[in-house]
Parts: sequence; structure tokens; C-alpha cells
Amino acid sequence: MTRRVCIIDTDPGTDDAVALWLALAAPALDVRLVTVAGGNVGLDHTLRNARAIVGLAGRTPPVVAGAEGPLLGAFTPETRVHGADGLAGVALPHGPAAAPGIAADAIRDLLRAEPRVTLVGIGPATNLALALATEPALAGRVEEIVLMTGAWAEGNITPSAEFNAWSDPESLAVLLACGRPVTLATLELTAQALVTPDRLAALRARGGGACLDAALRIMGGVPASRRFGHRGHPLHDPCAVAWLLAPRLFTTRDVHVHVDCGPGAARGRTVVDRWERSGARPNARLLETLDADGFFALLGEFLSTLP
Ligand code: RIB
Ligand code: CA
Repeated sequence: MTRRVCIIDTDPGTDDAVALWLALAAPALDVRLVTVAGGNVGLDHTLRNARAIVGLAGRTPPVVAGAEGPLLGAFTPETRVHGADGLAGVALPHGPAAAPGIAADAIRDLLRAEPRVTLVGIGPATNLALALATEPALAGRVEEIVLMTGAWAEGNITPSAEFNAWSDPESLAVLLACGRPVTLATLELTAQALVTPDRLAALRARGGGACLDAALRIMGGVPASRRFGHRGHPLHDPCAVAWLLAPRLFTTRDVHVHVDCGPGAARGRTVVDRWERSGARPNARLLETLDADGFFALLGEFLSTLP
């Protein structure tokens, strides 16, 4: 099997934790670097969480701190979903120390060393954008950029915008313009990955180690979403990783995406042209539908292999 060299850029974050464990468990992915930004909670918490998540999985990719804030302005945490600590109050053993340096430099170093690297962005896109904006020539070594970001209908942090896109729209615009394949898992896709009590019970019935147990406790600690009638909550970030592991679970559509970087109520809105009305050339592959049962089966299959 040819393993895909990956960088995961993250703001853990309850769903980030599950996404990281999924990626670290998957033999097809060679996670070489985990870079961290603020976002769901402050960088002090997201960095500590990323170290703990990687450590609990018994994996050793370097974890490198990055952006405390977006290119412009400041991150606004989303503690209503993730809790003050970012992991819904689930305490994990401390992980290994963060690697020295800053995320954008570490990303560029790996791009110089590896001819084909997949960038997985599951938080605000600041670190990835800083790396590519300061050395654009390295974009040619990016195999694919897979992002959990955006929405073509309602937002989740404002009526217009999804949280990652809203947190740093300028950085998302940089990635969409970098000339490399960009795949988007938007809110409409992740809404199909609803975590429900039955699905949590099925995952627990599989059995596993400390990572599965922690993932279940973390997912169980996220409040059910009123948007889904309190039936559960969408599992956003693992959808981006699942695309790399099982594309058969998805249907896709090539689209043009424009990011609103203005100051107003639409800031961070991703205007997704699904019907070629703008005449603009597609710049992204939209993940449109998900085989949800297959997704949760994949999650259980891999999480149950972790320590
Ligand atoms: O809108 C959902 C996204 O924002 C997810 O990545 C979640 O972790 C938050 O970062
Ligand atoms: Ca995230």
C-alpha cells in the first residue's frame, strides 16, 4: 500500500480529536506532522489537547504550535460546543512536548522534504495559508488540500458562515487560489454524519482501548444540536479524513467557491456555485453526500484498533 503523506492542521476541538484519532489509526495515512491553531478554544488549550490526543494514540508525529489568531482580527472560541477546555471536559493524560518552531515553518519544511503532501485542514486555515503564501513555489508539492470548512446554505456561527471559514476567511481564500486541488467538507456534508445515542452505543459495542473510550466520552459530551431537533450533533472534522480513506462513501461535484472577506454580516460566507451560474471556473471539489452508516462503520473499524 502506498501511504499518503499528510499534515493535519487542527484546533482541537471535540470533533478534531476524533478526526485525529481516525487519521492516526489509518494505515493508508502517514501523518508526518500535526500543526495547531487557536479556534474552538485558545491556542494554549488546542495545543495541549493536540499533544494529548497524539500521545494517547501512541503515535509520534511532531505537534507544532501555530496561529494564535487569524490573519486579521482575533479568533472567537466556540466553547458552547467544545467546552472551556476544548474536549467537552474530558481530561486526557498529558501528551509529549510540542516540537519547537512554528507551524507555518514546519509545514514548509515538510513540503521541501516530500514531493507529494496532502494537507488536511480541520480548523481555521491560518497555518496552511501562511505556509503557502510565504513560499508559493511549494504549492506544487501539495497533492491535495482537504478542508472541513464552509457551507452553501446556513452557517453555524453566523447565519451566513461556517466557523472555520468565518474564523479566517482570508486564509481560506488563499488556499482556494493556490492552484492545487481543494476538497471541501461543508456543513451540508457533515450534517449527514449525525452523532446519535444509537451510533455511540454501536461504537462502544465494538470495544477498543483508551482512545475509543475517550472519543466516545468526548462525543457524548457535545450538546445535541437544536438545528437537528436535539437528535444529535454533526461530526464535522472526521468527514474530511474519511474522504481520504474511503472516497466510495461520498458523491462529489466540482464547483466554484467564493469567500466573502468583507466586514459585514456575510463575512466568512462561502458562496458555492453548484449550478455553474457564475461562469467562474470550478476551484474546489464539493463533497455532497455521505453514506453515513458506512462512515460510522469506518470510524468504529479504525478507532477500535487504537490503544
Ligand atoms: O464548523 C465546524 C468546524 O469548526 C469544525 O472544524 C469544528 O472543530 C470547528 O473548528
Ligand atoms: Ca476543528
